[in-house]
Amino acid sequence: MATYLIRKAVPGDCEEIVRLIKELAEYESMPDQCEMTPEKLRADAFCDQPFVHLLVAVCTVSKATVAYSSFSYMYSSWKGRTAYLDDLYVTPAHRGSGLGTSLMQSVAKCAFERGCNRMNWIVLSWNKRPAELYARIGGENLTKKENWENITLFQEQLKNFATNYKVKLSADTTVNVQL
Ligand SMILES: CC(C)(COP(=O)(O)OP(=O)(O)OC[C@H]1O[C@@H](n2cnc3c(N)ncnc32)[C@H](O)[C@@H]1OP(=O)(O)O)[C@@H](O)C(=O)NCCC(=O)NCCS
Repeated sequence: MATYLIRKAVPGDCEEIVRLIKELAEYESMPDQCEMTPEKLRADAFCDQPFVHLLVAVCTVSKATVAYSSFSYMYSSWKGRTAYLDDLYVTPAHRGSGLGTSLMQSVAKCAFERGCNRMNWIVLSWNKRPAELYARIGGENLTKKENWENITLFQEQLKNFATNYKVKLSADTTVNVQL
């Protein structure tokens, strides 16, 4: 029999969470893309306006951190307040007993209590088993349903677009920017 406690993370959890973040990156076959460090995570999660919210699941017997989820709040101009679930991860030895679903439900509870009207996340197309879980709780696949594609600017491209990129304006157009 296993007993787990799901709770909000505290700053001292960041080392263990980053260990699990790296495990998830391995599972997703993209370990090289993971640049997270405990220091970076701590600074972004435990500040005045957190960029990320973290939940951990601790095994109450071994005291080991065996699962985590990371999420943040964003805005949909159609639906309003939205939660974005970035990661959901349970270590292999603790899978299949309901912990992952409980963790995801805890994120949904936080989102619901914060007044969110929707919760978004993405999943790799080969990762079929969680896709079944997502369908079971009522998640809709918007790529299949509405053909949305997921697009990202990584750091170098973001910096370049924000600071160097020359927008080609029509001859009779002037754009003034005041931010
Ligand atoms: C997806 C995941 C978080 C589910 O956690 P879990 O504790 O195993 O989940 P539950 O026990 O609540 O089971 C829910 C569903 O998860 C999936 N699941 C269960 N055991 C699993 C395993 N060993 N491997 C992969 N998926 C599993 C199944 O779809 C399961 O539904 P089922 O019991 O009808 O088959 C966990 O398997 C995991 O961390 N997988 C690797 C990382 C991942 O895919 N994360 C999600 C995308 S970011």
